[in-house]
Amino acid sequence: MNNNFDVIIIGGGPGGYVCAIRCAQLGLKTACIESRDTLGGTCLNVGCIPSKSLLNSSEMYHKAQKEFHKIGIETENIKLNLSKMMNNKNKSVLTLTKGVEFLFKKNKITHLKGIGAISGKNIVTVRDHSGKDSTYNTKNIVISTGSIPTSLPGIKIDEKNIVSSTGALSFDKVPAELVVIGGGYIGLELSSVWKRLGANVTVVEYLDNILPGVDKDISDEFLKILTKQGIKFKLGSKVTDISNTKNRPTINFTKIESEEKGKIECDKVLIAVGRKPNIGKDIIDLGIKLDKRDQIQVNKKFETSIKNVFAIGDVIDKGPMLAHKAEDEGIAVAEIIAGQAGHVNYDVIPAVIYTSPEIAMVGKTENDLKKENVKYKVGKFPFLANSRAKVNNEAEGFVKIIAEASTDKVLGVSIISAVAGTMIAELALAMEFGASSEDIARTCHAHPTHSEAIKEAAMAVDKRPIHF
Ligand code: NAI
Repeated sequence: MNNNFDVIIIGGGPGGYVCAIRCAQLGLKTACIESRDTLGGTCLNVGCIPSKSLLNSSEMYHKAQKEFHKIGIETENIKLNLSKMMNNKNKSVLTLTKGVEFLFKKNKITHLKGIGAISGKNIVTVRDHSGKDSTYNTKNIVISTGSIPTSLPGIKIDEKNIVSSTGALSFDKVPAELVVIGGGYIGLELSSVWKRLGANVTVVEYLDNILPGVDKDISDEFLKILTKQGIKFKLGSKVTDISNTKNRPTINFTKIESEEKGKIECDKVLIAVGRKPNIGKDIIDLGIKLDKRDQIQVNKKFETSIKNVFAIGDVIDKGPMLAHKAEDEGIAVAEIIAGQAGHVNYDVIPAVIYTSPEIAMVGKTENDLKKENVKYKVGKFPFLANSRAKVNNEAEGFVKIIAEASTDKVLGVSIISAVAGTMIAELALAMEFGASSEDIARTCHAHPTHSEAIKEAAMAVDKRPIHF
C-alpha cells in the first residue's frame, strides 16, 4: 500500500466517516483509522442507533400491553423475549455499520484498523490489534475521536451492576430495580426503555429540574408526563457514593437544600452524568491546546493550535455533543481542506430526545434570551387542539415558537410531541432561511398532520391561532 495520503482522519464515528466520504468526493486521497472492529463510532455501535432500536421495540411492547385494547385491538399473552429484542437491535447495528464499510469501498477510502496516534509532523501511526505499528504520511490530519462517559468521583463503572449507557443497552434481563443517575438525554431515554419493559425506575438528578438547558416549560411538562408513566424522580439530590452489598448496589444521596440523606438499593445503576472528550496521550504530548473542560480548541476552520491538524465532533470546544453536529463539521472541514468555504451554523443545531413523547428543539430558549436581554414574543399551540394528534391518541405536549419582538424573526422553537423529532427539521430550515413567524404562519401545512401545530403556534405569536 502507498502510505502517503492527503487526509488521515482519526476516528470513524459520524464526524470521522462523513468527513472521509466528503474528502474522497472532493478528490482527496483519504484514510480513516478506527479502533473498533466496526465503523460508525459510539453513535452506531453503542449510542444513538441501538438506543433508538430499543426505544422503538419497547414502545411497541408497551403499546401492545397497555394501549391496544383501548382502540379495539384485543391481545392475549403478550410476552417479552428480551434476547430476541436485543438480537434485533444487534442486527440493525451490524447492517448499518456494514453500510458505512460499503460506502468506504465505494468511495475508495482506506480503512485503517487499530488505534491511531499523531507521531510527528504529518505522520500518523496505527497500532493494530496484534500490537504491530504502521506509519503513514499525510498532508492533513483530522482528529475525530469523540467522547467517553464520565462517572462521579470514587464511582467506578464496571458495566455489570454499575453501568454506562453501553451496559444499559445490553442487560440480559430486565432489572427489577433500576436507578438512573442523571436526568439528561441518556438518563431519560434509557429510563423510558427499561420502565416500559417492566423495571421500577428511579432517576436521581442533581438539579431541581430534568433536562438542563431545555426550555423550562418543556422540561416541567415532560417531568409531569414521565411521572405519570411511572418513573420516579429524586430531584435536587446529589449522589455521593455507591456501596455494593451482596452484589446489589446502594446509591447514597444528599438532598441539596435540606442536606437530608437518602439511599436506594437496586439491581442495576446507570451513570448518565455526561460525557467527556476522548483525548489521546498523543494530543497531550503534542501540546495541542485544550480548554478548561479538556476539549480541543479550534478556530472557525476547525484548525487546532498545530498546523494541518484539524478537529471535529464531541472532542472540540464548539457546539453540543451530537452526532449530526459532528457530521456537519465533518463535511465543513473536508471542504475547507479542499480549498472550499465549509461552514457550520451553531445557532441552528436541532436536538432531539427520543422518548415518548419526543422532545425536540432548535435555537434559543426563553432563558437564553432573558440572559442576552433580547425582547421576544412567544406563540404556543397544544396538541390537544391538533386533529391528527387527537385521532392518534397522542395529544400530549405543545409547540412553542419564540420570535424576536422587533423583527418577528424566529429565534427558537421547542416541541414536545409524539413526532417532535421529525417536525423540528421544518423549523431548522425556516431558521436557516431567517424566517419570521409570519412566514411560517402563511405557509400552507397539510391537513391533518401534527405539523399544523407549527403553523398554529406561529399564528399564536401574533395572537391569532384558529383552533385554540
Ligand atoms: P447530560 O449532560 O444530558 O445530563 C447529565 C445529568 O446528570 C445532568 O442533568 C446533571 O445535572 C446530572 N448530574 C451530574 N452530576 C450528578 C450527581 N452527582 N447526582 C445526580 N445528578 C447528577 O448527559 P448525558 O445524559 O449523560 O448525555 C451525554 C451526552 O450525550 C449529551 O451531551 C447528549 O447531548 C448526548 N446524547 C444525545 C442523545 C440524543 O441526541 N438523543 C442521546 C444520548 C446522548
